[in-house]
Amino acid sequence: MTAARPRPRPGVLDIEAYVPGKSKAPGVAKVYKLSSNETPLGPSPRAIAAYKAAAEHLADYPDGSASELREAIGRAFGLDPDRIVCGAGSDDLLHLLANAYLTDGDEAIHTTHGFLIYPIVTLGTGARPVVAAETDHTADVDAILAAVTKKTKIVFLANPNNPTGTCLSFDEVKRLHNGLPPHVLLVLDAAYAEYVRRNDYESGIELVATSENVVMCRTFSKIHGLASLRLGWMFGPAHIVDAVNRIRGPFNISGAAIVAGIAAIEDVEHQERSREHNTRWLAWLTAEIGKLGLKVTPSVANFVLIHFPEAKGRTAKDADAFLTARGLILRQTTAYKLPNALRMSVGTEEANRLVVAALREFLGQT
Ligand SMILES: Cc1ncc(COP(=O)(O)O)c(C=O)c1O
Repeated sequence: MTAARPRPRPGVLDIEAYVPGKSKAPGVAKVYKLSSNETPLGPSPRAIAAYKAAAEHLADYPDGSASELREAIGRAFGLDPDRIVCGAGSDDLLHLLANAYLTDGDEAIHTTHGFLIYPIVTLGTGARPVVAAETDHTADVDAILAAVTKKTKIVFLANPNNPTGTCLSFDEVKRLHNGLPPHVLLVLDAAYAEYVRRNDYESGIELVATSENVVMCRTFSKIHGLASLRLGWMFGPAHIVDAVNRIRGPFNISGAAIVAGIAAIEDVEHQERSREHNTRWLAWLTAEIGKLGLKVTPSVANFVLIHFPEAKGRTAKDADAFLTARGLILRQTTAYKLPNALRMSVGTEEANRLVVAALREFLGQT
């Protein structure tokens, strides 16, 4: 007989724990990690200097409201700092939003190949994740709207989406918003917004500013190169900011993250360099991998989704083993319901060229 013991709430044990991208290639001297969409340029040197200087103050609690960081973000984007909340990564904010707005029996919608954290944060509250089909690996506004029921409380939309790299135009996001009941919260997760070069894209700032049921989440983990520090932020209506602030950890952002984040957001030249590097190599990778005969989903972010044939010896799993043996670590996407694809972050020139050469060899084209 099992002894009485604490039981997690319904839903928790249904969660498939998040498995991060691999970082090791056993027995290989030099590893190129292209599995977590980190920036190949690293953080701004100014952010590194600020981080090091923070070592002098490790005994002090940080400013729990991260006011100087919120002010710096506000200046960078022309936003009211009172409408910003910082989190320990945008993951933290996604958890906080789910905890504040979902309860047992509610539903939260995400798309078929949407970011894996959405079902995790949903199940953790006792609510049910509902999957809306995508079209061409892209969120489908009609399918999302058709999935809305009386129980729907949140729609999570990664725009651009990870791992597909596709995005919706601002018109489509507005159409989605217009079709949602006003009590449904639309979470626009714009972790990769800085990389998008499309004129018809808008990260969410405008929609948040003009509505009462939209929030936008951003991260310092991608273009700012501060993934290890865990720092993200959200912009939302005052009533949502108030709710999230009531349940967040009182010191959820470290002092080091605050000062490094300020330096990073103010180093516009570094961001521009990262963006330019990405634009150049995203196009190059898409073209070169395409020339090998592999399908690449057109991406607007800092990674590409590469599709492999079903043929024995040519599958994504085979390619992953082949690349890993050469120190080239991409991301398996089986958990994203894309078992025959690999996601590759845009890397340094050296890493990008090595992957294309290795794929050519893998496909027997050398
Ligand atoms: C779409 C999306 N949202 C959020 C995150 C989480 O980023 P953070 O490091 O800020 O928690 C990621 C990270 O991969 C992501 O791809």
